[in-house]
Parts: sequence; structure tokens; C-alpha cells
Amino acid sequence: MIKVCETDAVADGEVLRVELDGLVPLAVYNTEGEFFVTDDTCSHGDASLAEGFLEGTEIECPWHSGKFCLRTGRALTFPAVEPIRVYPVTLEGNAILIPTPTGEAVPRGCSGECRPEEAGTNATPART
Ligand code: FES
Repeated sequence: MIKVCETDAVADGEVLRVELDGLVPLAVYNTEGEFFVTDDTCSHGDASLAEGFLEGTEIECPWHSGKFCLRTGRALTFPAVEPIRVYPVTLEGNAILIPTPTGEAVPRGCSGECRPEEAGTNATPART
């Protein structure tokens, strides 16, 4: 496990970009006291998701408004179609920990928690 940051470094409703030696930049999210960690770079371009817009368990990319589910990494809206990597979070005291990234993709697949109507489908997001 590696420590990403302290919980008090990320206020409720905020996103923090964290750079650790040897790892891609990470984004740490606090949504109503629940913490999530993903890769910071959008899967559609080089935008930093930490500069995006957090709404519940979804992050909207600041460049082209693609949205991602923080629980699964699934892309929810066009033009984002590829998922982002999500990391399981463990809290140890005030420390936010994730497993040491191995370079292997985290299993993905929407559990339907954020968009129940889309659960179990591989529907391509509609173009707007
Ligand atoms: S760079 Fe994120 S949606 Fe385009």
C-alpha cells in the first residue's frame, strides 16, 4: 500500500491532484466524506481531472465535459468513451492509502450505482 495524502488535504466536494515519485499523477476526491482515487489524466485527452467538476460520485472533465464514474472509472458521457483507472481506497487514521499500482488495469464494469438505467449495458454514450 502507498499513502496518497491525508484526508484533511481534500475538503468535502474538492479534488486534489497528487504527484508521487514513479507514479502517474493521481486525483483524490472527497464527496461527502467518502474518498476516491483515480488517475488524474482524462482518458480522452491530457486534461487534469482534478481541475474538473465534482458532482456526487461523478467527475466532469474540464476540457470537453466528459464525465466518469468514480466508483468504476466508467466513461459516462461523450466524448469520453474509455474508462479511467480507479484505485480501491483504504483509510488508516487520516491517511488515504491505495494498493501500489502495478500497471495492470483495474477491473472495470459499471455496478450501476451511479447510472442504474445503464447498468449491464455497453451502450455507447450518445453524441451531443
Ligand atoms: S480531455 Fe477530457 S473529455 Fe476531452
